[in-house]
Amino acid sequence: MRAIELQAPGGIENLRLVERPMPEPGGQEILVRVKASAVNYRDVEIARGSYHTNFTLPLVLLSDGVGEVVAVGAGVSRFTVGDRVCGTFWQRWVGGSFVMAEASYQRGGPVDGMLSEFARLDEQAAVLAPAHLSDVEAATLACAGVTAWHALFTEGNLKPGETVLSLGTGGVSMFALQFARAAGARVMITSSSDEKLARAKELGAHDGINYRDNPDWASVVLALTGERGADHIMEVGGPQSFAQSLKAAARCAQINVIGYLGGSEGSINPLDIFRRQVRARGIPVGSRESFEAMNRAIAVNGLRPVIDTVFPWQKAAEALRYLEHGSPFGKVVLDHMQ
Ligand SMILES: NC(=O)c1ccc[n+]([C@@H]2O[C@H](COP(=O)([O-])OP(=O)(O)OC[C@H]3O[C@@H](n4cnc5c(N)ncnc54)[C@H](OP(=O)(O)O)[C@@H]3O)[C@@H](O)[C@H]2O)c1
Repeated sequence: MRAIELQAPGGIENLRLVERPMPEPGGQEILVRVKASAVNYRDVEIARGSYHTNFTLPLVLLSDGVGEVVAVGAGVSRFTVGDRVCGTFWQRWVGGSFVMAEASYQRGGPVDGMLSEFARLDEQAAVLAPAHLSDVEAATLACAGVTAWHALFTEGNLKPGETVLSLGTGGVSMFALQFARAAGARVMITSSSDEKLARAKELGAHDGINYRDNPDWASVVLALTGERGADHIMEVGGPQSFAQSLKAAARCAQINVIGYLGGSEGSINPLDIFRRQVRARGIPVGSRESFEAMNRAIAVNGLRPVIDTVFPWQKAAEALRYLEHGSPFGKVVLDHMQ
């Protein structure tokens, strides 16, 4: 079977299409014919060599993918041949707290990912894909979708009428927008682009704030909420935007520390956390239990992931470059049937 390997650190140009032996599913494993996969910023960082962890190479990238089960091991009880499944990000974090997640069992590094024709998965590290989604849509769920769900519901206990502030218009933010709307929350989106803000409003965002035109965007959040602030903040900007997120936070707000797109340098005043009794926590994607809960919500509400662009899977390098520089609205996906 064919796979695309990262063969050396230091750049997307080190991706190579290779022949690998056809994987055989062990006792509790399933073999999946991959139909579609999706790229995340983490994949860009791993390829560049700037991710916080170095993995042994060669490595097949991508935590996200969907496919059809084509063979099962003798001890498999969760799936049968013909099922359509998504792989989970954490191979051994089935449920419960992050204490149960093991760093050496993340798909797409250090465990081989979905950028191949076939993938061998432990049956505990897969979930049924929502039936109404296309393969391209279902491929987007494992990382960005579960991250948004975990932040807002598994940890955040989001309630109707609360305000969710989500930064940017990338994959995580667009899932947060859709999930928060389905839960009856008010949604505020920030973006560097008025055109993207208009598209976010079409998807249900109540308010859009251009963070490029308004460097003090927290003041706009406060003004729009009668000085109350946002209850849940999806913080993807990192240290550079964290001070603004704190300023935009309601009393007892929850700030989900998810990414650091603006860089990893910056400083905050811890007293700002104290003054509003804010809870800030890291979000590490989420467990299979969160993935399954999210899929139920996606099915019941008929939600469809927001897709920016679909590339043929052999153009993975192009897709990663596009994610890095193209500023997509929603997800970038690879179609393995093209
Ligand atoms: N912790 C986790 O479990 C986890 C899981 C998934 C992702 N992440 C991280 O979360 C971040 C977002 O992921 P994603 O998949 O949504 O990324 P993405 O699809 O690449 O989207 C990023 C978007 O964020 C906005 N943005 C860029 N720089 C920004 C800044 N300095 N301040 C505020 N917004 C900014 C941009 O929106 P506009 O173009 O609209 O301005 C951009 O389109 C990445 O750093 C990623 O590595 C973490």
